Amino acid sequence: MTLNIILLGPPGAGKGTQASRLEDEHGMVQLSTGDMLRAAVKAGTPIGLQAKAVMDAGELVSDEIVSGLIGERLDELGGDVSVIFDGYPRTAAQAEALDGILSARGRKLDHVIELVVDEDALVDRITGRFSCAKCGEGYHDRYKLPKVADTCDVCGSHDFKRRPDDNAETVRTRMAEYRAKTAPILPIYDARGIVTRVDGMAPIDEVNDAIETVLATAG
Ligand code: AP5
Repeated sequence: MTLNIILLGPPGAGKGTQASRLEDEHGMVQLSTGDMLRAAVKAGTPIGLQAKAVMDAGELVSDEIVSGLIGERLDELGGDVSVIFDGYPRTAAQAEALDGILSARGRKLDHVIELVVDEDALVDRITGRFSCAKCGEGYHDRYKLPKVADTCDVCGSHDFKRRPDDNAETVRTRMAEYRAKTAPILPIYDARGIVTRVDGMAPIDEVNDAIETVLATAG
């Protein structure tokens, strides 16, 4: 069975962490618009050039750009792959676009998992985050350090990086954007009866277990 799942939650809620676990454990594919945009910025594509300043300010890139990226990526993947939307949709217009994107490809949205978190803890989570520059494995200064100091657990690289928008000031703007534009789309999905709320403040393994329980009944 092919699943189409949204992971929803504010910056630092753990969407990327959990989506990556689901990729590893179930062969689902993580569709992160943030990752797609960062790749475009790095490659210096026209979309990347347009998005960079907006992302550095913690504001939202245009609905047309991100929905276009999602449609293209789904076309590349084909029809028989389960996907997790991470960081998309983020506005009512994107939520509406996603419905059209999915139905045009014979897919339907199965479930929305909201990671419920305490915003005060998120600044700490985000400003402590770093990742392997080679394979992208995520770490945190306190919650998830490499097992051997300065060495990636996955690929052994000694090169790590931090995101330019992971500073306290930009994080506050990103959270304000979430409250103003993204949180209001939850009632759309609540009305369809497809939202499950998971405690995103629990340890990473427990959050993963809770999501697994949801997936076992979704679809
Ligand atoms: P994006 O890349 O999507 O960033 P975000 O939504 O701000 O989310 P984050 O990646 O910061 O957090 P996360 O929830 O994935 O947390 P993570 O798992 O890393 O977007 C970046 C920018 O791109 C946006 O600001 C915007 O400009 C643009 N953009 C992207 N999509 C867009 C769209 N659809 N429309 C318009 N613009 C768009 O976890 C964070 C840290 O906490 C990690 O260190 C992790 O190890 C740790 N952690 C995770 N879970 C736990 C736990 N349970 N306990 C303790 N620590 C934990």
